[in-house]
Amino acid sequence: MILTESIGVIGTGKMGTSLVRGLLKEKLVKPDQIFAYDILEDIPMKLAKDTGINVALNNLQIVEQCTIVFICVKPQVFETTLQKLQTKFTNDHLVISIVAGVPLITIERLTGTARCVRVMPNMALQVGEGAAGFSLGTRNDNRDAEIVELVFGSLGKVFQFPEYLLDAVTGLSGTGPAYVFVLIEALTDGGVLVGLPRQEAFILSAQTVMGAAKLLLEQNVHPGVLKDAIMSPGGTTASALQLMEARGFRSILIDAVEAATKKSQFLGQNNLLLSDR
Ligand SMILES: NC(=O)c1ccc[n+]([C@@H]2O[C@H](COP(=O)([O-])OP(=O)(O)OC[C@H]3O[C@@H](n4cnc5c(N)ncnc54)[C@H](OP(=O)(O)O)[C@@H]3O)[C@@H](O)[C@H]2O)c1
Repeated sequence: MILTESIGVIGTGKMGTSLVRGLLKEKLVKPDQIFAYDILEDIPMKLAKDTGINVALNNLQIVEQCTIVFICVKPQVFETTLQKLQTKFTNDHLVISIVAGVPLITIERLTGTARCVRVMPNMALQVGEGAAGFSLGTRNDNRDAEIVELVFGSLGKVFQFPEYLLDAVTGLSGTGPAYVFVLIEALTDGGVLVGLPRQEAFILSAQTVMGAAKLLLEQNVHPGVLKDAIMSPGGTTASALQLMEARGFRSILIDAVEAATKKSQFLGQNNLLLSDR
C-alpha cells in the first residue's frame, strides 16, 4: 500500500526530519505530498532543498492542506501548538502524535473530531531500524491502524498495544537506544583497555551489537540458544559470562527498563512533560 493522502509534519526536529526522510526513502509518498512546518524555519527549508517536499507557511496551512498530520513537537509545547488549530480539524484528519507522555485523551481533546493515534517510536527510525508501539484513539477505523503499521513498519518494527502499555514501550524501546549506546561505549573502553586502538574498538563493538541483533531477529530463536552456541566448555565466553552474572548485568538491564517505565508513568500522570525523548 502506498499512501495517497497529503502528509503534514508539525515539528521537523530530529524525529520529524527522520520521519520525512524515511517516508521518502521507502517511497511511501512522493515529495510533493508532504508539507512540513517548524518554528525554526531553516530546518524545513533545508529538508525541502534536500528532498523536494513543501514547506508550509504555518501549522494552519498543514491542517488545511493535509489529511494525515504527524505531531513531532516536544511535549512541553504540545498543548499550545494544538490549541491554535483545535477547531480546524475534522474527522477527515488522521492525527498521529509521537509526543512522549501525552495521552490520547488529551490528543483527542485538542484535535476537534480528528481520528487520533499515539505512537512511541525510537530514534533508530532515522536509519529504518526503529522500534515502535502505538495505540488507537476512540474514533479510529482499521484503515488508520493499517496506515500506522505501514509507516512505522517501513521504518522498523511496530506493534499495537493498549495505551497503558505505552509507558512500558517507552521504558524498553523508546529509551532503549541510550542503553545500547552506553553498552557500545563501555565495550569500546574494554577493547581499549586490552590494547585495541579506539576507532577500531568502537567499530568492532557497534558491529558486534548490530550483528548479534540481526542474527537473533533473522533466526528467530531464543537468545539463550545462540549464547549457548558461542559458549564452549572452559572457554572465554564462559569466563566473561560468569563475571557478568556475578555483577548483576541482567538485573541491571531489567531494573533500567522498569525505572524508565515508572518515570514515564510518573511524568505522564503528573503532567510533568519534561521528557528527554
Ligand atoms: N528523540 C527521540 O529519541 C524520541 C523518541 C520517541 C519519541 N520522541 C518524541 O518526538 C517528539 C520530537 O522529538 P525530537 O527529538 O524530534 O525534538 P526536537 O528535535 O526538539 O524537534 C521538535 C521541533 O519542533 C519545533 N517546534 C516547537 N514548537 C513548534 C510549533 N508550534 N510548530 C512547529 N514546530 C515547533 C522545535 O523548535 P524549537 O526547538 O524552537 O522549540 C523543534 O525544531 C517529542 O515529543 C518526543 O517526545 C522522541
